[in-house]
Amino acid sequence: MTRPLDLGIFLPNAKGGAIMATGSPPQYFPSWELNRKNALIAEGAGFDFLLSMVKWRGFGGETNHWDYSLESFTLMAACAAVTSRIQLYASVAIPTVHPGVIAKMVATIDDISQGRFGLNIVSGWNKMEYAQMGLWQGDDYFARRYEYAAEYLEVLQRLWTEDRVTHHGAFFALDDCKSYPKPSRRIPLICAGQSDRGIAFTSRHADFGFLGGQDDSLEDLGRLNARLQTSAQGFGREVGAYVLLTVIAEETDEQAQAKRDHFIATSDREAMAEWARVAGMDFSRATYKDLAVQTFMAIPYVAGSYQSVADYLDGLAENGLAGVCFIFPDYETDLQRLIDRVLPLMKHRRA
Ligand SMILES: Cc1cc2nc3c(=O)[nH]c(=O)nc-3n(C[C@H](O)[C@H](O)[C@H](O)COP(=O)(O)O)c2cc1C
Repeated sequence: MTRPLDLGIFLPNAKGGAIMATGSPPQYFPSWELNRKNALIAEGAGFDFLLSMVKWRGFGGETNHWDYSLESFTLMAACAAVTSRIQLYASVAIPTVHPGVIAKMVATIDDISQGRFGLNIVSGWNKMEYAQMGLWQGDDYFARRYEYAAEYLEVLQRLWTEDRVTHHGAFFALDDCKSYPKPSRRIPLICAGQSDRGIAFTSRHADFGFLGGQDDSLEDLGRLNARLQTSAQGFGREVGAYVLLTVIAEETDEQAQAKRDHFIATSDREAMAEWARVAGMDFSRATYKDLAVQTFMAIPYVAGSYQSVADYLDGLAENGLAGVCFIFPDYETDLQRLIDRVLPLMKHRRA
C-alpha cells in the first residue's frame, strides 16, 4: 500500500530562497514575519514539519543571493513558541559550534516545543562560509567531514542521555561534562548528504535523508531512494527518503512552464558564477538543462498545472518516498495556493 507523504516547508530564511533569479518574485527578504506566516499556515493545514537551513555567506550578484539569512536555531525557537503540533528542524553547521553548546540548544528548543524538535546535521561544503570566520579546519577537513560528523553526533547523543561524559576522540575532548536538561525524547535526525560518505552517514545515523542533486524525474528519485534503502539495510536500519522540491504550480502546464522559463531567462548569472566557483562546479559549456539546474540550485523542481503537480506528488509516494519539503518562488502566496488548489487533487494524502 502506498504510504501518504509527510509534507514539510523549507522555510524562507535566506534571501532569494532556492531560485537564483532577478525577477520579482522571487525576491524577498527573510523576515521573521514571513517565516511566521508560513509556519502558521502550514501548521493550520496539517503539514508535518518545518525545516530551516543554516547559511553564513551568500553569493552576491545583483540579488545578493543568500547574503541575508536568519539564524536557524533562533528562528526555530521562535517557531516553537508560536506553533503547537508541527515538527521543527533546525540545521547545525557542525564546523561552527561545539557539540556541548548544541546539546543544550536542542534540549532548550525541545522544552519550548514540548518534544517537537529535531536536527539537520550539516557537515559544511562551502569553505568560504567558515574560512571568513577563521573556522575552516584545513582542506583535509572536507575529506574527513563525515568522520567529524559521526564523532560530533556520538558526543551529542551521550550528552543527551548520560549523567557525565568523558570523551577523548580525534576531534573532541570532554572531561566529566554535564549537560542538563535532557531532551524529552530521542531527537530525530536529518542528513542531506549526497556523496557516498554522506549517504553512508545518513544510512547509519539519520531518521530521514534527502534525495537530490540534479535528478528530478520520478525514475531518478526512485533509483536514488533504492540506493539509500540498500545502504541503510546494510546497517539493519530504515531511513525515510525526503525530497526538497521547488514547486511552480499554475492553472495550466503552459503558464507554469512560462514562469519557469522566465526565472531561467532572468537568472542572476553573477551569483550563479560565484556559487559554481565555491562549489567547484564547471558550467562553462552550460546547456539549457544545466542553466535550469543552476537557476534552481540543483534542487529538484516541478512546473505544471495544479493537476500535474498533484500527479507528480502522488508519483513520489508511489516510488516509496516518505516525504517532500516544499520550496516556493513566492512565499507570500504560493503555500496557500498549494493548499487550496494542489493538495485536494492528490490521491496519497493523509486524511
Ligand atoms: C534539504 C537540504 C537541506 C540542506 N541544508 C543545508 C544547510 O542548512 N546548510 C548547508 O550548508 N548545506 C545544506 N545542505 C547541503 C547538505 O548538507 C550537503 O552538504 C550537500 O547535500 C552535499 O552532500 P555531501 O556533504 O555528502 O557532499 C542541504 C541539502 C539539502 C538537500
